[in-house]
Amino acid sequence: MAKLIIVSNRLPVKLQEKEGKMTYKPSEGGLATGLGSIYKKDDNLWIGWPGMVVENPEKQQQIAVDLHDENMHPVFLTETEIREFYEGFSNETLWPTFHYFSQYAVYDQQLWETYVAVNQKYCDVILEQAEPEDTIWIHDYQLLLLASMLRERLPDATIGFFLHIPFPSYEVFRLLPWRKEILDGMVGADLVGFHTYDDMRHFLSSVNRILGHGSMHGWINMGSRSLLVDSFPMGIDYDKYAEIADSDEVKKREKVYRNNLSDQKIVLSIDRLDYSKGIPQRLRAFELFLEQYPEFHEKVTLVMLVVPSRDAVEKYKELKEEVDELVGRINGRYSRITWNPIQYFYRSYPIETLSAFYRMADVALVTPMRDGMNLVCKEYVASKHNDPGVLILSEMAGASKELSEAILINPNDINQVVASMHKALTMPEEEQKACMSRMQESLKRYNIHHWVGIYMDRLNYVKIKQMSMATS
Ligand code: G6P
Repeated sequence: MAKLIIVSNRLPVKLQEKEGKMTYKPSEGGLATGLGSIYKKDDNLWIGWPGMVVENPEKQQQIAVDLHDENMHPVFLTETEIREFYEGFSNETLWPTFHYFSQYAVYDQQLWETYVAVNQKYCDVILEQAEPEDTIWIHDYQLLLLASMLRERLPDATIGFFLHIPFPSYEVFRLLPWRKEILDGMVGADLVGFHTYDDMRHFLSSVNRILGHGSMHGWINMGSRSLLVDSFPMGIDYDKYAEIADSDEVKKREKVYRNNLSDQKIVLSIDRLDYSKGIPQRLRAFELFLEQYPEFHEKVTLVMLVVPSRDAVEKYKELKEEVDELVGRINGRYSRITWNPIQYFYRSYPIETLSAFYRMADVALVTPMRDGMNLVCKEYVASKHNDPGVLILSEMAGASKELSEAILINPNDINQVVASMHKALTMPEEEQKACMSRMQESLKRYNIHHWVGIYMDRLNYVKIKQMSMATS
């Protein structure tokens, strides 16, 4: 029976070694929940890196056996590969370029060669597991070359690719020395998916101008074969977030946090530590808000959760220092014995804690400089039930295309961000609830299961259409 193979850089589980014993911690990530019920079915499989360097072959064997029971298969990466493929080309070349931070991008031939070699490594592992009639669904920017590598060996396979980060405009994409090779890698898929229509348009324009292939209604005709490009805005597991937020445990936690913050209005900020998230810009806007609206001193607290990420990469280390410094400066300037304007937490938290934070937040401040989708804003909305709450959302996040009832801002426009904070903190409850419930309706319907469903349906449709094109 044909099976589905999901491939992503990381497996939906984090491997850790404690006192010589392996532990496997399931990931709470959006993709992991969305595909959870699918990859565990029948012979389906998820292939990826287990999140830890393991060099001992016996240990590797044991891990493969353990993961096999959970329908997962590991790709082991060496320390050099982590440095050059993951931290290097993926996160110092592609990530900044695709997020319009090309001034941060490193162009280094050695990093590129390791990126090619690791994509080939994933390909070899998949080939050991795949049958020609299987469907292979590849995820994200770490594996841009994989579709074509697989296509060469399995010409008739059904191959999907989805990019979870933005695809930049042609003028930015063309800066990459390996732009042609990257596009050649992506067009090996039958269906290339993006979060937004704009990402899709940018990709088609680059394919046209760099590879010379035109397109019609999203179909790229490559001569020997055709592929479809389309947008699929990713949703969240709405019911899961709504249910957790409604649980007694979360309500209890919310009460404890609230008691500690007395009558404060809470503005919430949650992100991975990443320059694309606009954390320093957000802090400066909050500082200006405090300057312009002294009547809010001791009345509002910014609760800021920053989740550690990619801390071996230089730009991330620099950002950490900048954030620490800014928080210190603002708190130093405005704190009173009974009030700290910013409560800053640099660590990761379980979903129940996040849910309690979402519940108690009067305002969620989601202001990335650039974001493929952004799920935090969707999780906030899903956690609100019938409660009031206001979402301030950056126009540069893919989610802004769906959540038009949020207060949409340009994160570079500090005055607009300040004004939107004031508007949010003084918005009548009825208006808050009306906007929330409209956003909730849409997120409930276009949830993660819907996303998986329409992507898979479209992939099947592409295969049928390709067959009819070949015979006509
Ligand atoms: C983004 C990317 C994912 C990545 C995640 C965490 O959401 O689109 O591919 O897995 O960040 O980053 P990390 O580098 O820790 O895998």
